Amino acid sequence: MSDARLDLVIDGGIARLTLRRADKLNALDAEMVDALVPLCRQIERSQAQVVILTGEGRAFSAGGDIAAWSGWSAEDFGRHWVRDGHAAFDALARLSQPVIAVLNGHALGGGLELAACADLRIAEAHVRIGQPEAGLGIIPGWSGTQRAVRRFGAQLVRRMALFGEVFTAEQALTLGIVDQVVAAGGGLAAAETVAERVMERGARASELTKMLINAADGEDRERVLESLAGALVAGSPDLAEGLAAFREKRKPRFSEKD
Ligand code: COA
Repeated sequence: MSDARLDLVIDGGIARLTLRRADKLNALDAEMVDALVPLCRQIERSQAQVVILTGEGRAFSAGGDIAAWSGWSAEDFGRHWVRDGHAAFDALARLSQPVIAVLNGHALGGGLELAACADLRIAEAHVRIGQPEAGLGIIPGWSGTQRAVRRFGAQLVRRMALFGEVFTAEQALTLGIVDQVVAAGGGLAAAETVAERVMERGARASELTKMLINAADGEDRERVLESLAGALVAGSPDLAEGLAAFREKRKPRFSEKD
């Protein structure tokens, strides 16, 4: 399943998610944002062990689709654009598989926020990274002041979002916004190498580890706690007894606490 401008191919343990709106530098519009949620669900339920996210053409993503905003009401922005964007980006950040973002070109505004959802960022050398939103009179949305602060640190977000600094790939590497810099055109090959390493590791262990790291990072903490506790209790004989008692219309006889 793919939206025309958001392409998903799952092959050999790798899910490849590609923004395909090159003529607009992969600016994200409402349809692309909406398409991300079901695509993430599809990845979640697939055999893929790792995800590679990238953009087609010369940009990773130049952010939210500025052209779409002019006709919108405050309600359109607050209720739909922001909420739908959060749902989509949360789905990506909370995927059980590790996500590698290949910044094949600029990652600006919403494009950087999208990259922030990944677990690893590989940038090609020519890439520029920034949060230009205030220059347009808007705030860095889609968690650009929240997840971005958690992942990159408040001071770097201040420098980009308040002072308009645009970082080169090398600066972003030094500052910890990206994890690796490769030559232009080399991002996907570098990501494949990392993906191979991920696939040699225990998928279940990686999934649980990612959940724990996310929880420590303030990402999805409630679900992570409940998932782990739910799995633990579901494996106990008490659940089987509770279900049997319900079926047989009797009081359950739970095991004694050790
Ligand atoms: N939303 C909608 N369209 C966008 C876009 C965005 N965020 N960013 C780029 N585009 C479109 C341009 O309008 C242009 O479309 P056109 O050919 O129909 O005129 C096309 O993508 C190419 O962009 P262009 O500006 O001509 O490329 P450039 O190489 O001269 O400049 C950038 C590249 C990234 C510096 C420039 O496009 C830019 O500043 N984009 C906006 C970045 C931004 O503020 N993002 C924050 C939004 S959350």
